[in-house]
Amino acid sequence: MARTAISPVPRDAAGKPPLAPKPLSLEELRVIWRDAFRRVRAETESRAAHLSAEDQIVQSMADASPAKWHRAHVTWFFEQFLLVPNDPAYKIFDERFPFLFNSYYIAAGPRHARPQRGLITRPNGEDVAGYRAHVDAAVERLIENVPAADAASVFSILEIGLHHEQQHQELLITDILHAFAQNPTDPVYDAGRPAPRATQGPRGFVDMPAGIHAIGHEGQGFCFDNETPRHDELIPDVRIARHLVSNAEWLVFIDAGGYATPALWLSDGWAAVQAEGWQAPGYWRQNDGAWFTMTLAGLKPVDAAAPVTHISYYEADAFARFAGKHLPSEAEWEVAARAGLLADAFGIAWQWTRSAYLPYPGYRAAEGALGEYNGKFMVSQMVLRGSSVATPESHERVSYRNFFYPPARWQFSGLRLAEFV
Ligand SMILES: [Fe+2]
Repeated sequence: MARTAISPVPRDAAGKPPLAPKPLSLEELRVIWRDAFRRVRAETESRAAHLSAEDQIVQSMADASPAKWHRAHVTWFFEQFLLVPNDPAYKIFDERFPFLFNSYYIAAGPRHARPQRGLITRPNGEDVAGYRAHVDAAVERLIENVPAADAASVFSILEIGLHHEQQHQELLITDILHAFAQNPTDPVYDAGRPAPRATQGPRGFVDMPAGIHAIGHEGQGFCFDNETPRHDELIPDVRIARHLVSNAEWLVFIDAGGYATPALWLSDGWAAVQAEGWQAPGYWRQNDGAWFTMTLAGLKPVDAAAPVTHISYYEADAFARFAGKHLPSEAEWEVAARAGLLADAFGIAWQWTRSAYLPYPGYRAAEGALGEYNGKFMVSQMVLRGSSVATPESHERVSYRNFFYPPARWQFSGLRLAEFV
């Protein structure tokens, strides 16, 4: 899939910034950022356009949020972090909204309880559309008028806001899929949305280049703070799977009693299997002996050739043990991806790694409220690499670190294997 960067850093045909990029004028930057802002804001609305007003209110579990909330929260982010500090003339759209639409920023003030977002029928969808339009106009005015001395910092916060909105575009889809999966009528999000297909080609494992390799973000393009500092990692003698684990391979695990064999599972994983009654990946159900799964295009037969998705870290870990393999570390994943060894690294399923989500050596969170973006979550979660079918265009990077708690499986999460030599 062709991907275009949000960032205005010029790139050559290979997608790399040229060694001496031509400096852009402030007027050119205003146009680039205005267009990027419009493009990202429009993508959110285009994803929400598949949903009715009722769809947009529902919150099917504490981890998920209503689509209406996502649309308002990403708008609050621009209001709170871009407009209020940088536009003295800006008027808050509604003084009640920051409490409703702040997610987890303690430094930005008190906030509504996350598990109760689905109880907020008012403001209604039209109010949220008005909020978006109000903030859109104010952001465009700021882009148009920001003085040269403030442009770099304003565009920097704008860029974070755009990447933040893209993260919520993915959540908007995964959250509504979870809600639709609870509905006995198997609603369709988008009948025309193609299911992800795995790349054809030789399967099996490939040798990794053992030794010391640098991982983490490099270059001038955007990254989140958790992708830095770039640093060295020791890669052992290990081989990594070219392909993602498929549904066919997962069916072997099921048929072999994988979900009923405690020796395959971490203790917490086995407890989750027992408590949740897991017998298959999330959204799978058996009708007359055949497996079906809820997809964005509705209930569909499980495609044996497609990569498995909607599995927890515990399931990925148990499958790897069943297969006599391991999950790759995030450093192994990144080195392999940079070396071009991985099929389907991006665009189908986030891939669980065996790496805990921890700060890179020397990591420092930013000062102020935006320092809460990533750093305070660096405990008890596991890293996923790559990107998924729900990830927006231009939002994937080889150094990108996604993270979720081990039991989570409402994301498009899958796995690839590694084996030690
Ligand atoms: Fe957010």
